[in-house]
Amino acid sequence: MFETRISRRAALMGAGAVAAWAASPARALLQATERVKAPAFVGDLIARMTLEEKAGQLSLMASAWGGTSAASLNPPSNGDFPRQLDEARRGLLTGVFNGNGARMHRMLQTAAVKESRMKIPLIFGADIIHGHRTIFPVPLAEVASFEPDLARRTAEMAAFEAAGTGIDWNFAPMVDVARDQRWGRGVEGGGEDVLLNELFAIARVKGFQGRDLKSDAHMLATAKHFAAYGAAEAGLDYNTVDVSERTLREVYLPPFKAAFDAGALSVMASFNELSGIPSTGNPWLMTQLLRGEWGFEGFVVSDYTGDEEMIAHGFAKDAREATRLAFLAGVDMSMQSGFYRTHLPDLVRSGEVPQARVDESVRRVLAMKAMLGLFEDPFRRIDERREQRRSMTRPALSLAREAGRKSIVLLKNEGDLLPLPRSGKRIALIGPFAAGQHDLIGPWCVYGDDAKAVDLATGVREAIADKSSIIVAEGSGIEEPLAGGIEAAVAAARQADIVVLAIGESQNMSGEAQSRTEIVVPRPQQQLAEAVAAVGKPMVVVLKNGRALALEGAVANASAILVTWFLGTETGHSIADVLFGAYSPSGRLPVSFPRESGQQPYYYSHKPTGRPNPEGKLEAYKARFRGLTNTALYPFGHGLTYGKIGYSDLALSSRSMAMAGGEIAVTARVGNTGTRAAEEVVQLYIRDRAASITRPVRLLKAFRKVTLAPGSSEVVRFVLRPADLAFVGLQNKPVVEPGTFDVWIAPSAEADGLHATFELTA
Ligand code: NOJ
Repeated sequence: MFETRISRRAALMGAGAVAAWAASPARALLQATERVKAPAFVGDLIARMTLEEKAGQLSLMASAWGGTSAASLNPPSNGDFPRQLDEARRGLLTGVFNGNGARMHRMLQTAAVKESRMKIPLIFGADIIHGHRTIFPVPLAEVASFEPDLARRTAEMAAFEAAGTGIDWNFAPMVDVARDQRWGRGVEGGGEDVLLNELFAIARVKGFQGRDLKSDAHMLATAKHFAAYGAAEAGLDYNTVDVSERTLREVYLPPFKAAFDAGALSVMASFNELSGIPSTGNPWLMTQLLRGEWGFEGFVVSDYTGDEEMIAHGFAKDAREATRLAFLAGVDMSMQSGFYRTHLPDLVRSGEVPQARVDESVRRVLAMKAMLGLFEDPFRRIDERREQRRSMTRPALSLAREAGRKSIVLLKNEGDLLPLPRSGKRIALIGPFAAGQHDLIGPWCVYGDDAKAVDLATGVREAIADKSSIIVAEGSGIEEPLAGGIEAAVAAARQADIVVLAIGESQNMSGEAQSRTEIVVPRPQQQLAEAVAAVGKPMVVVLKNGRALALEGAVANASAILVTWFLGTETGHSIADVLFGAYSPSGRLPVSFPRESGQQPYYYSHKPTGRPNPEGKLEAYKARFRGLTNTALYPFGHGLTYGKIGYSDLALSSRSMAMAGGEIAVTARVGNTGTRAAEEVVQLYIRDRAASITRPVRLLKAFRKVTLAPGSSEVVRFVLRPADLAFVGLQNKPVVEPGTFDVWIAPSAEADGLHATFELTA
């Protein structure tokens, strides 16, 4: 018997509800936020610093170490590194990011603490988005596990490797809710749902930071990108965002609040404008809300040249004005433009920026360096031997394999085609992702290396008894046809009993600046799929993707479809584990797979509209497209197992709940009548039938993963309280209103599931 107490975000609640949140187990999950206290010596330092040195502490630059990729541990330096060393000696740098390993970090740190006037240690930042050298599944993939603790564990392992090279500060997690699949950066985040984004934000912050920021195996986490970066119009990266304050508070802000409550002490301003004001220059966001309302005590860093970009936004007339606007809005540190160190001193001298404001930001940054233990030992995380010893260890690789297989989602499995037999069948492994060490680790790995990753063909060969029963055919390029490719693929399919078609997106089709207008399998690969399907062999599609895709034709019609995202270093092993049944898939979609690209932005928790269109019917003058119902092909929360799962016996402890202190227990029996063990993600959704602000058609409130042996069943129990029914009301404050609520326990956001109603009474 399970019990999940559903907690509501503190950000959205009135006093009673806040008390409920404070008492809830989910809140207890959060470690107490460390209070930021600047040690006394910080005040002495500030009193002795020049304006230039202060502006230096607020200026962060990319590593100037040479080499084409930060992946190589210690490449030779190019001409710029001596200049950067000199900047460290002159106190013009607070730190660098995406540097190249312990030796480089040691050289720069030595210059700062031995040769600069103030001897203030540097801070080393990096983008450790989903692993350092051992690459874990992309963040969106991990969210498909519906297992936040898995993300905590991979974050902690990433921190262990990265901190070993001297990295103190991570530019992750990205906690931007992403509801438009055209946007490429959804791959870095928590998908379309608010609750999942919150829970994974908490998990990742806890993993990166651990319990003690001074730990040489952890690093400071950054919640990014503040705010609503994922709401870019048309899913076009960097594009305009215009959302109401209510939607901001209901959808886009809660994951940030959750990250801060979990202890994140750094936040990155987003590139986008928000209703006419670039985030980087938005005092309401960066000061009033962040510090005034939420009491955030850490520091704010701009995104890469975010302050400079306010000129192109048409918000600042020049560099000097951009500096003043960003700094006075509340952005403590400037990344990469160099604007702060160039213009802040003069802005203070001219009286346009108060000296005290500069001191305040410097105090925040130095306090954080102290909390990271850098004043006590500036080299605490820099260790060349640790760097090697901690890199790609056995436990890390086994965690990557586990995370990989838990991230895979089985969309369909007609005739129980999967799992495949390990012997006795010839398998044609077809497609641009069938073999080859490319597109394995994903779009955002500064330190990862494809050459160290396991491809699908290798994973499959290791899993099967007779290695010669595999025929590999590339069939197509990723975005271009391959001469003779389709013919060779068709010939391979003819010789085989089963086709495994590995198709989808390359890793550079998602991530930053990789928005797509059509979220489909690229045409040449679709043509390959049609030709291979025409051979008539049972076909498993293994999708590689950084976003939800609109599946078409032979791909949508394949007997079995696995969503495998970018799974990282252990890709081939993880997929083979699922293909051949060593692991029964348990992943669920964190983003809805639409029927067509043109439905974007499509998300399950949309509003009903005044003319809802019932599923399957295409009535005139209803909210539907010409010829297309506006539902998902595979909705949020969907995912099959190798078991046969059934839901029954929904029961509510009461049909009414008092607003003051009431609660309802919702239970259902979930069983597995199949012959294989399964992990089922049981989901609880609600709908508020009528409220002073219209509410979504369904909203995820809780979920629970249960392991079901063949023939077994389990009663899953959730507890709903008034705080779980709160929403952002007319005054943009949390409210709870009496009325009728629907509740579903269901296997996905659009499955009928088990349904009941209850009343919330005044
Ligand atoms: C720009 C990206 O938006 C941000 O997420 C990243 O941390 C910085 N570049 C630094 O690499």
